[in-house]
Amino acid sequence: MNIVITGANRGIGLELTRRYIDRGDTVFATARKPEQAAELQALSAKATGRLRLIALDVTDGAACAALPSRVETPRVELLINNAGVSSGWGGLDELDFATALRDFDANALGPVRVVRALRGKLVAAHGKVVNMTSLMGSIADNQSGRGYGYRMSKVALNMATVNLALELAPEGVTCVCVHPGWVKTDMGGPGAPTPVGESAGQVIMLIDRLGNDSAGKFYHAEGRPLPW
Ligand SMILES: NC(=O)c1ccc[n+]([C@@H]2O[C@H](COP(=O)([O-])OP(=O)(O)OC[C@H]3O[C@@H](n4cnc5c(N)ncnc54)[C@H](OP(=O)(O)O)[C@@H]3O)[C@@H](O)[C@H]2O)c1
Repeated sequence: MNIVITGANRGIGLELTRRYIDRGDTVFATARKPEQAAELQALSAKATGRLRLIALDVTDGAACAALPSRVETPRVELLINNAGVSSGWGGLDELDFATALRDFDANALGPVRVVRALRGKLVAAHGKVVNMTSLMGSIADNQSGRGYGYRMSKVALNMATVNLALELAPEGVTCVCVHPGWVKTDMGGPGAPTPVGESAGQVIMLIDRLGNDSAGKFYHAEGRPLPW
């Protein structure tokens, strides 16, 4: 498969990249600063041409629009919109509106920019789009509040996923959103219960099982549907 993964230099994105390379797939791995992405570069040296590093900030509209020329394949079977950011988990008094807007730009608009740019290649492959969302973007599940910028951005991403699913299903592209669990990464923190390898393995198994009837659904990486 030809796979595009955003935010691939660390955390879940890096682990997904490592596993798909090990499986024999070709990965176009994006990072804001690929020249500083030591682990991706080391992986690339072993991947015999199957790992291509691309500089991409998903908030940069021009860079996203230029992505098709950087992803040098006519067909993309899988796009994982993994890049994400959090402005923190505080309450109303801690909320900083500027950083909340940054969350929205990266987490909600970023994936939409990337899908729009790669639409032709995804349609050519009848591919899949996986938007890495969060259970913190579930309104029905919200019992602890706080984290305004991050939660609101992931709610918006969930809505965008359903929109994309509706618009792209007639073109053969399946779009879903996936919560990876609470994962031990820079974002999840050291107290998170799920090792990054376990989460990435679950995400890959789930993606393998996605069919046309999955379009527009919100899944836990373990495979169960989650409430909006
Ligand atoms: N960890 C969890 O418990 C958890 C739970 C639910 C959902 N998620 C979601 O899972 C995804 C991956 O999370 P993670 O835990 O692996 O986070 P992470 O370790 O903090 O890594 C985040 C990645 O996103 C990239 N990124 C941030 N802003 C970007 C931008 N504007 N343009 C391009 N790349 C950008 C980062 O690049 P830089 O290195 O350049 O900053 C980094 O590669 C995120 O969407 C997150 O919201 C994580």
